[in-house]
Amino acid sequence: SREEDESGKGLKVFDPAFQNTAVAYSKITYINGDTGALRYRGYPIEQLAEKSTYLEVAYLLIYGELPSKHQYASFSHEVMHHTFVHFNVTELMRKFNYDAHPMGMFISCISAMSTFHPDANPALAGSNLFIQDERVRNKQIYRLLGKTPTLAASYNVPQNNLSYTENFLYMLDQLSEKNYKPNPKLARALDILFILHADHELNCSTAAMRHIGSSLVDPYSAISGAAAALYGPLHGGANEAVLRMLEEIGSLDKVPVFLQEVKERKRKLFGFGHRIYKNYDPRAKIIRKIAYEVFDVCGREPLIDVAMGLEKIALEDEYFIKRKLYPNVDFYSGLIYKAMGFPTDMFPVLFAIPRVAGWLAHWKESLEDKESKIWRPRQVYVGPSVRSYVPLDLRE
Ligand code: SDX
Repeated sequence: SREEDESGKGLKVFDPAFQNTAVAYSKITYINGDTGALRYRGYPIEQLAEKSTYLEVAYLLIYGELPSKHQYASFSHEVMHHTFVHFNVTELMRKFNYDAHPMGMFISCISAMSTFHPDANPALAGSNLFIQDERVRNKQIYRLLGKTPTLAASYNVPQNNLSYTENFLYMLDQLSEKNYKPNPKLARALDILFILHADHELNCSTAAMRHIGSSLVDPYSAISGAAAALYGPLHGGANEAVLRMLEEIGSLDKVPVFLQEVKERKRKLFGFGHRIYKNYDPRAKIIRKIAYEVFDVCGREPLIDVAMGLEKIALEDEYFIKRKLYPNVDFYSGLIYKAMGFPTDMFPVLFAIPRVAGWLAHWKESLEDKESKIWRPRQVYVGPSVRSYVPLDLRE
């Protein structure tokens, strides 16, 4: 329910999942769930996916404008020369169990980064000296953008003569030679996927980034919190959950039985539905096209037939039409990553890496907002009214 509180200062909103509560002003990303529009700083996602690169989009999201040639050269130089992670962090990565989930490792190592950089020292980081110092903030931005792919991979030493995404593919390819050049079609496909995942307004993990960052903690710690929120299967973990769901369904003829179980609420249709999009997720449309370009190079992923069949049946089924459930960004992305040879449990990390740009953009925007304060939402108390303590021996 929405009601003016007695002070009239603002709206006290009771809405458990903040489904309609605006908690910030932002100039970064615009979404229209009815028309399926998505724009970064006013630029339609379709144009950016076709014409831009991930690193250029990261600059646009964080600094608000497309970079000039000089600005882009200097930004990409800074990011690409901050790709090494501290030896102790790679040692930390080696200490995890052989079957540790890469997203759990990613979150731990991002958080560990805060222990290596003096600008993360809470005593200093919170001081105006740091918060207002553009140079410190930019250094933190370069480090986080540059190092997150290495944290995810940490197999090979990064190469500065490769592009951001090529370098990531290189590091993941443990059998590579030094003159490794990833397939340009795959590098471009992954770069477009990174663009599509870079930001998405105030989703669960970005809201966590703004919430945690509002206490003036360092951005390494704030991003590890945002990545933890993204890890959930209802959010960024959905791309992995979709693959496991498709593997479990196994074949096209099993789709009707599975969808019946979804309608009976025994199963969740991962990769479908969205809090904002009550139309086709514009990113899913673009990803669907990329899938075929990747299959041309890597071979057709057999589960694509199950996915396409499931999508067709669901889109024609009253249950899903009535609930405005359409494929979202996670429905097809996992199939592409699988065809490219990524392990399934790596998929949430492939969502987190590009989303670092969006998290940093929102963190920077909230720090620069002179009105911004520490986030401290209210609640509606529905517990017991006041009562007196009963000593233990008098209790039943
Ligand atoms: C991402 O917020 C963002 O922008 C996130 C994201 C980003 O870029 O940051 O876009 C990335 O997280 C995409 C979503 C990935 N998650 C999944 O694919 C998990 C499966 N999807 C659902 O769990 C669900 O759709 C959510 C979590 C995405 C949205 O949940 P909501 O807002 O609670 O769904 P809703 O209110 O629109 O649901 C309306 C109805 C309900 O039925 P009734 O109770 O009214 O009968 O649709 C049902 C829901 O139960 N429903 C589903 C469903 N999603 C909603 N039923 C079956 N399968 C589903 N996937």
